[in-house]
Amino acid sequence: MAADLPKRPRRKRPKTSSPRAPRPGTPAEAKPAGADLRPRAAELLQALDRKIEDDQGGVPTFFDNHLKRVLTHAVRPGPEVPIGLVLGPQAPRREAAAPELERLRGFLDRFDEGRFIDYRIRRVEKPGQKPRRSEIDPHDMTLSQGAWESLRWRGLPLFKTVYDFAIYPMLIWELQPKTIIELGSGSGASALWMGDLLQAFKLPGKVVSIDIKRPKASHPRVRFLRGDCERIAEVLPVMEMIGLGHPWLVVEDAHVNVLGVLRHLHPQLRHGDYLVVEDSSIKSQALARFFAETPGAYKVDTRYTDFFGQNATASFDSIFRRV
Ligand SMILES: C[S@@+](CC[C@H](N)C(=O)[O-])C[C@H]1O[C@@H](n2cnc3c(N)ncnc32)[C@H](O)[C@@H]1O
Repeated sequence: MAADLPKRPRRKRPKTSSPRAPRPGTPAEAKPAGADLRPRAAELLQALDRKIEDDQGGVPTFFDNHLKRVLTHAVRPGPEVPIGLVLGPQAPRREAAAPELERLRGFLDRFDEGRFIDYRIRRVEKPGQKPRRSEIDPHDMTLSQGAWESLRWRGLPLFKTVYDFAIYPMLIWELQPKTIIELGSGSGASALWMGDLLQAFKLPGKVVSIDIKRPKASHPRVRFLRGDCERIAEVLPVMEMIGLGHPWLVVEDAHVNVLGVLRHLHPQLRHGDYLVVEDSSIKSQALARFFAETPGAYKVDTRYTDFFGQNATASFDSIFRRV
């Protein structure tokens, strides 16, 4: 792993009563909304300042500036300045809490969970919690592969969201894969793009890209294989996979026989390899079965799924690290 990751501070959850579940008989109005967040906000504010200074050479992002404003208000003492008041309309009851306050709460909760999370924990909703959807507005997500024209690489249509277009280079840089296995080549642009990234990063890896229709494109780092994911054992025989160097980055983007493909690849995946399942909102049954069969073998890497906000990716809860 490259050593370029800003560390998330480890902390224990404070023993404050949660506004999600007020004790019976306690009027919800007794505390200003968000008061429970103060200790956590204070700690995060310090971590934020350290991160801006140590990791970014003192240059804040849009998000850093916004979070700093929110947190600075949040840590102000005294009930006369309740967090709900400064973040939006004062909201003594949870149902009426300011969206900003809820966003801060969600961010802090995710921060406390750490980077690598079990898929089933990530998917199963806790009582009183909102489902873990994407923080990206559905319309923005609809536009994210291009409005009318699709995103392009070397002039060929590339079927990635703008979020994933930014996420993959970081993942490839960090992982330094020796082999990238792509299921579903499309026009070939995605394999060319990943081959170009390997070359630009001066990494020795190769791309194997499989599709039922072989694209016309070619690249010195890419081997296009024509094959049917319904018959994955014939396309990628075990003996052939054994010869492919690790770490692997597997990208499932053919949307065919997903469970069969994962079952076939699983015994070959080693600690530290990555498995990305794209467009996973339509594959949740296959994923649930696969993870029931392989308990504890994979963790969701939230550095990437949540890089631009929770599930701001086509790989919804489905950028996995083999553990
Ligand atoms: C979403 S596209 C892949 C997009 C590409 N990975 C990208 O990011 O630009 C899905 C691809 O899966 C391929 N496909 C469909 N059925 C298949 C099958 N049974 N086996 C292999 N590939 C298949 C299609 O031909 C199509 O090119």
